[in-house]
Amino acid sequence: MTELLFNPFDPAFRANPYPFYDVLRERAPVYFSPFETVVLSRYDDIAVTLRSSDFSRDIEKHANAPTSPIANRRRERGGDDSGKSILNLDPPDHTRLRRLVSLAFTPSAIERLRPRVQQLVDDVLDVAAERGSMELIDELAFPMPFQVISDLLAMPTERSVELREWSQHLTASLEPTADDDDMDRAEAAIGHFLPYLNGIIEDRRRNLGDDLLSALIQVEESGDRMTTQELIAFVLLLYVAGHETTVNLIGNGALALLRNRDQLVMWRDNPALDNVVVDELLRYDGPVQLTVRVPIRPVNYGETTVQPGTVVMTVLGAANHDPAMFDEPHALQVDRPNAHRHLAFAAGVHYCLGVSLAKLETQVAIGSLIRRFPNLDLAGEPGWRDRLTIRGVDRLPLAL
Ligand code: HEM
Repeated sequence: MTELLFNPFDPAFRANPYPFYDVLRERAPVYFSPFETVVLSRYDDIAVTLRSSDFSRDIEKHANAPTSPIANRRRERGGDDSGKSILNLDPPDHTRLRRLVSLAFTPSAIERLRPRVQQLVDDVLDVAAERGSMELIDELAFPMPFQVISDLLAMPTERSVELREWSQHLTASLEPTADDDDMDRAEAAIGHFLPYLNGIIEDRRRNLGDDLLSALIQVEESGDRMTTQELIAFVLLLYVAGHETTVNLIGNGALALLRNRDQLVMWRDNPALDNVVVDELLRYDGPVQLTVRVPIRPVNYGETTVQPGTVVMTVLGAANHDPAMFDEPHALQVDRPNAHRHLAFAAGVHYCLGVSLAKLETQVAIGSLIRRFPNLDLAGEPGWRDRLTIRGVDRLPLAL
């Protein structure tokens, strides 16, 4: 039997995938795994794949007949195109929607949020300062981005506990290790989310404001508008992205700095680094470890050909630790000159829409934390969510 080089079912792999990625990149950079996928781990192969029009992001539509019952259920859950978010659509449908949402989701609109983000962070740090300790994830890394996305969309926050749970169930179903129970929970979460969002959107149509959701409802180009279904799918994606990614970047980033104190001090004492550090945190231990594409025509990686319909896993975390791209890739270097070349936000047409927001929130949260508390330290072992697709710290006790 061939050696198993990519095994998300191995707890040691999920706990620290980077040494496994190194072996994979060295020994089988285009790895035909027994899980019916081809796993890519080299920076160049991944960058080319993400930018290529030879691939689709619509796995349900283009992947070969799925072999596992879970893959089958995923396919069924994909349904018809009308329920898909921009993340799962290909051009030209993707192009149309991306243009519409970009009209409302501009970098200048995000930069205007800076004072609000700073205020939310300062409020949390004031309370923690009194106590002399804090649990970073529950007190800051989760509630702040959640409040910001809720503010942006003018969403009510009183059901935040349920919303967080639904989001977690949805992302759990994206894991390569998802089982029937995960799929059941994800379906139940969708069943809650859809009527909830539908109600809010219907209400907002009658009471437009100056929020992002109102802007999305009104956005129009050449007579084109978003349908209610498109709006729901997009808001759902924003919610999940808002809940499940930035929280991990703040957690993973803070932990990386605490474990590399010379780098923490270098950033703390150099405000000029404020705009570049977050790229290195994303490169070093980004929240989204992998994503998938499926070729729609035969593609070649060197001598190896991958046939249409084969699911190709682009391991972003492996690309970001490729020594062919980054010197000493396993070292955290907050002034790394080419850190911005990381692929933590993917690349090509699906390049993350939330980049400015995620960077702003992380820079303000961690920057304020390390500057306000010079003696900041870990106050216990971090806890990890046992996940790979979206991987991160879920408990980080700090002494201030
Ligand atoms: C550190 C935080 C984040 C990371 C690491 C991240 C990562 C990613 C990645 C890797 C993709 C592309 C997936 C693929 O190509 O298959 C993506 C897409 C996307 N992200 Fe993010 N994301 C983050 C935060 C956010 C936030 C805060 C938002 C919005 C509030 C957001 C909204 C989106 C949207 C709408 C897409 C789909 C874009 C498209 O298909 O055109 N993300 N993100």
